[in-house]
Order: sequence, then C-alpha cells, then structure tokens
Amino acid sequence: MSNQFAKINNFIEDILYVDRSVEETMKIYSEWARNYNEHAEHGQFINMPKLLAREFGKLNLPKNVRILDVGAGTGLLGTFLHEIGYENIDALDGSQEMLDRAKSLNGVYRNFINALVKVGQRLPIEDKTYDVALMSAVVCPSHISVEAYGEIVRIVKSGGVIGWIKRVNEAFSKNSNEYRNGAYENLLKKYEINGLWTPINSYCPAVIENLMAGTNGEIYFMRVI
Ligand SMILES: C[S@@+](CC[C@H](N)C(=O)[O-])C[C@H]1O[C@@H](n2cnc3c(N)ncnc32)[C@H](O)[C@@H]1O
Repeated sequence: MSNQFAKINNFIEDILYVDRSVEETMKIYSEWARNYNEHAEHGQFINMPKLLAREFGKLNLPKNVRILDVGAGTGLLGTFLHEIGYENIDALDGSQEMLDRAKSLNGVYRNFINALVKVGQRLPIEDKTYDVALMSAVVCPSHISVEAYGEIVRIVKSGGVIGWIKRVNEAFSKNSNEYRNGAYENLLKKYEINGLWTPINSYCPAVIENLMAGTNGEIYFMRVI
C-alpha cells in the first residue's frame, strides 16, 4: 500500500466517516475541493462514479432522460455519464466549492443547485421534476442520511429511477450508528413497505467486489411508484 493511499484512507475512515452534522461535513469538502480529484484517483473512490455510470447504462434508459446528480461534487459521475451518452444532467451539492469544480467542466451539467439533502429540509426543486436521481459516494456517515431519501423520492417522477453506490456498512460502522446493527437496512426497507419505490431486478443491492480499499460495495436501483 503506497503512503498516499494509506494517508487518504486513514483520513476517510477516521475523519470523514464520523457521525457529525452535515454542515460540518460541508466544511471538509470546501477545503477538499481543490485536490479532491487527485485523491479520488489515489484513494480508489473514483471507482464509485465509474461503476455507477456503467451499471446505470445497463438499464438502457433513453439518452435524453433528465438526471439529477445528487452530491455531484467535482462532477466525476456527470463526466462518466456523458461518456455513455447521457447529457441532460443537473448537479446538486451542499458545497459551493465542489460545485464550482463541476461548473468548470463546461457543459457536463446544465443547472447547478447548491442545497443540502437533510432530514426535515425541503430541496428547492418541484415535485416530480427528474426522471432519474443518482448518488455516488454520498451514502455514508454524515453525508446523505437514509432518512433524507424521501426528499429525493419527492422530486423524481413516478416510474423514474433512483440509484446509488455505497461501500458496505462494515466500512462505515467504526464511528457511525447509522450503519451499525442493521440500522441502515431497517430504515431503507420502510420506503418499500410504505409503497414509495420498488427495487429494480438484481439491484437490491448488487454486490461489487473490492470496490475500494479492499472492501466491497453495493449498487441499488429503485423504481419510484
Ligand atoms: C465523496 S464526494 C462524491 C462526489 C461525487 N458524487 C463523486 O462520486 O465523485 C461527496 C459529495 O457530496 C456532497 N454532499 C455530502 N453530503 C451532502 C448532503 N447531505 N447534501 C448535499 N450534498 C452533500 C459533498 O459536498 C461532496 O461534494
């Protein structure tokens, strides 16, 4: 393991994946925006947007679907989606500094929304605006809480798709209650039980071997009811 790889992964495990307010997390990203992409390569988390885009492509949705990249960051997912022909994409992020990096990509995204996905907070987006909402590397402690997914459901059309990629819960459980003892799965199940969405085919979730730092990942795709 290279020194830089170890340093980035220690930072992620011990500092990033710790239960705190999402506003505090935004401060980390505002500082991190400048060299995030370099770290994404070295720390292997570039695999997340790459694989989510690849699996999304397999759903064979029309190329003009309107997509919201939730927690778009510097725009890595948008870039990979563009490469497979999806160009009607908006970026949402709680960090203006990260969004500015996505803006500098010129043409990957159409609109930029600086907002937080947070329990009890309404996003500045009308109901049923998007065909698709995707979340890459934002389902983790102190990022987008499973309890806040209802806001994402609200802004996606009936029949639309919500998809995300995350590391397995064991990668998060050291410093986070949300990912311990089945808490995440129990809360997630409620969306299905309450008739808000239904899992798509084999993505409930699909396991991705060795997603990053020797741990597996999971991809979920849900169809909004
Ligand atoms: C690990 S980065 C992932 C960026 C991008 N999705 C990717 O795959 O490269 C997480 C991003 O999500 C944003 N973010 C985290 N929690 C958020 C929240 N609750 N609401 C809005 N943005 C959030 C951060 O500001 C950061 O830009």
